[in-house]
Amino acid sequence: MNFYLRNVKSFNDILQQETFTKNDLIRLLKAEGEDRQSLFKAAEQRKAEVVGNKVYYRGLVEFSNICSKDCLYCGIRKSNKNVFRYEAEDKEILDACGFAWRNRFGSVVLQSGEISSPAFVDRVDRLLKGIKELSRGELGITLSCGEQSRETYMRWRESGAHRFLLRIESSNHDLYKKIHPNNDHHSFEKRLEALQLLKECDYQVGTGVMIGLPFQTMENLAEDLLFFKKVDVDMVGMGPFIEHEDTPLYEHRNGLMSKQDRFDLALRMVATLRLLAPDINIAAATALQAIDPAGREKALKIGANVIMPNLTPCEYRKEYQLYEDKPCLDEDAELCRNCLEARIEMAGSEIAYGEWGDSPHYFKRKKATES
Ligand code: 5AD
Ligand code: FES
Repeated sequence: MNFYLRNVKSFNDILQQETFTKNDLIRLLKAEGEDRQSLFKAAEQRKAEVVGNKVYYRGLVEFSNICSKDCLYCGIRKSNKNVFRYEAEDKEILDACGFAWRNRFGSVVLQSGEISSPAFVDRVDRLLKGIKELSRGELGITLSCGEQSRETYMRWRESGAHRFLLRIESSNHDLYKKIHPNNDHHSFEKRLEALQLLKECDYQVGTGVMIGLPFQTMENLAEDLLFFKKVDVDMVGMGPFIEHEDTPLYEHRNGLMSKQDRFDLALRMVATLRLLAPDINIAAATALQAIDPAGREKALKIGANVIMPNLTPCEYRKEYQLYEDKPCLDEDAELCRNCLEARIEMAGSEIAYGEWGDSPHYFKRKKATES
């Protein structure tokens, strides 16, 4: 064997490692053919060994699309005048959560645009208490309501939320700036600070990125994966970027990878992350389903273990289009549940009814800080 061959790691050598350099990650993210199959197989095995084969449900209620921000990629950005703005009534939200509880979903996610008015903060607080009451404390609650003050995060935590999703969108400062307006209301530093605050307020913290953004490189994505590790998050949700006609990033649509390539890359991101951070929860993002009808199930097979069936009242769904082709626009909750169940079973996973499905990583992290 010549010197060169002896010093280059084989793809399978990388798969056996427990720690990964940026270059290792790039090789995993670029895997094709047999290598791609080996990556998926390794991630599937790692998932079974570390977090098991269960899939956890989080019933998703997109309770308001009113947003104070203007992210350049997002269909519900403040400046998009083609969206009818709604706020679901408390009763509608609690009914959706009641459905989740009766059907033993385990947890719900309350998601909205980013608003920080005192009235909004009070409303979420009231909803949290209402959900705990209607479910006799049984439903786990995740919030996804953007950047807020420490006081607000604390208050919501005390009222029953125990997980929070706040995607970093891209961990690369320059790329973050390219996909957000250049002002104080869209600051990368504040986003980082908010993630830190969430950890300090004792949430299970989830973050994530979009995959296939304009200007994004493979190196950026490998760095995103290392960022998740560095910030020591408990959960990750990431999916393909999908251009939306009413947003400024739409003008870059011709420079994007094909949707299929973005989808494939998103699957490789999920599988690679399962190897890099085996004990976290990884969501099978809804955006995957916008490209491939079986997209989320494919992600579950190769590393993801959380799925978020949409429980938003049907009349509001078409107004919560963050991206084009968002699925399940007119299915009601019952239908969604039936169709999901069949597909998850097809993908060979078991649904964990009535379990919170907390991230094992969170408990390890807590133990490490306590000792
Ligand atoms: N394509 C894909 N994902 C998007 N999101 C927002 N806009 C888009 C888009 N055009 C994602 C963001 C946000 C999450 C709620 O939805 O990552 O954090
Ligand atoms: Fe609403 Fe980005 S457009 S948070």
